Amino acid sequence: MREDNSVLVTGGAGFLGSHLCEKLLEEDREVICVDNFFTGTRRNVEHLVGNTRFELLRHDVTFPLYVEVDQIYNLACPASPTHYQFDPVQTTKTSVHGAINMLGLAKRVRASILQASTSEVYGDPEVHPQPEAYWGRVNPIGIRSCYDEGKRCAETLFFDYYRQHRLDIKVLRIFNTYGPRMHPNDGRVVSNFIVQTLRGEDITIFGDGKQTRSFCYVATPADFPGPVNIGNPREFTIFELAELVVRIVGGKSKLVFKPLPSDDPRQRQPDISLARQRLGWEPKVTLEDGLKETIAYFRALLAQ
Ligand SMILES: NC(=O)c1ccc[n+]([C@@H]2O[C@H](COP(=O)([O-])OP(=O)(O)OC[C@H]3O[C@@H](n4cnc5c(N)ncnc54)[C@H](O)[C@@H]3O)[C@@H](O)[C@H]2O)c1
Repeated sequence: MREDNSVLVTGGAGFLGSHLCEKLLEEDREVICVDNFFTGTRRNVEHLVGNTRFELLRHDVTFPLYVEVDQIYNLACPASPTHYQFDPVQTTKTSVHGAINMLGLAKRVRASILQASTSEVYGDPEVHPQPEAYWGRVNPIGIRSCYDEGKRCAETLFFDYYRQHRLDIKVLRIFNTYGPRMHPNDGRVVSNFIVQTLRGEDITIFGDGKQTRSFCYVATPADFPGPVNIGNPREFTIFELAELVVRIVGGKSKLVFKPLPSDDPRQRQPDISLARQRLGWEPKVTLEDGLKETIAYFRALLAQ
């Protein structure tokens, strides 16, 4: 029999997905966690296995899924350039076929559905900071396009299902988020800098380190159809981030500079006025505090 408040989390064994599963179980929901374990691991959710309200399924979202649920959180998709560029065709399929399959499921069972979209839909933006009304500047044929255009097409599908089938959708545009359970080798800047510093290696900075990002510690947004930017509007240069990691870890790592990869955005900062107004949401954890927690996680992981 279908449980009330049952939730499907795709990509639930990943970094953000595992925190979400945990949070939903704390709220007494029934959680079906679906993952193909491409970048996620069983280790991220092993503390949840054994909970009678938690079910872990190996499944690839590019194939249809038949389950009965009330809500769907669609997070399945590799999120770091190293991983999404490993098999770009599969990345686009995951975003596009994954969205079609999950929207089809939501339509069939009349579930509400949330899409984990990304600041990458803004590409290399000429508007700064980026409000939701900005359409973005994305290269359709570059090495990042499998991710950026895949996520843009997924947003199109979400809003077409919203208009055409009156589905209850929510689209969140998530900006650089970091924290415990990030993949240690995924090439994302925060985990890269921490792991390199903990190992006593030099820190690799691509470009001159003046490109900016804003880093948001794992947060839980409230209900809202969106699209809505979720991220930290406090902007740091990559150089500042590297210096902060070295200061907290206390290692002797030097900063070494390499050329920027193609289409790497030069600046990135969310305009979160809409999230503040409509969700009463804003990030609460400072970069320094978030980094301390994340460094503690990687220190323990590397010691194993
Ligand atoms: N972390 C961030 O800074 C950030 C920023 C913007 C958007 N997002 C989005 O949030 C979501 C989660 O990101 P994350 O940082 O937790 O990354 P992650 O790589 O840790 O998680 C993605 C999960 O999806 C799974 N997955 C990938 N392809 C799949 C498929 N075809 N079928 C089933 N499962 C599949 C992976 O195994 C992994 O567990 C992604 O959709 C990502 O695009 C993340």
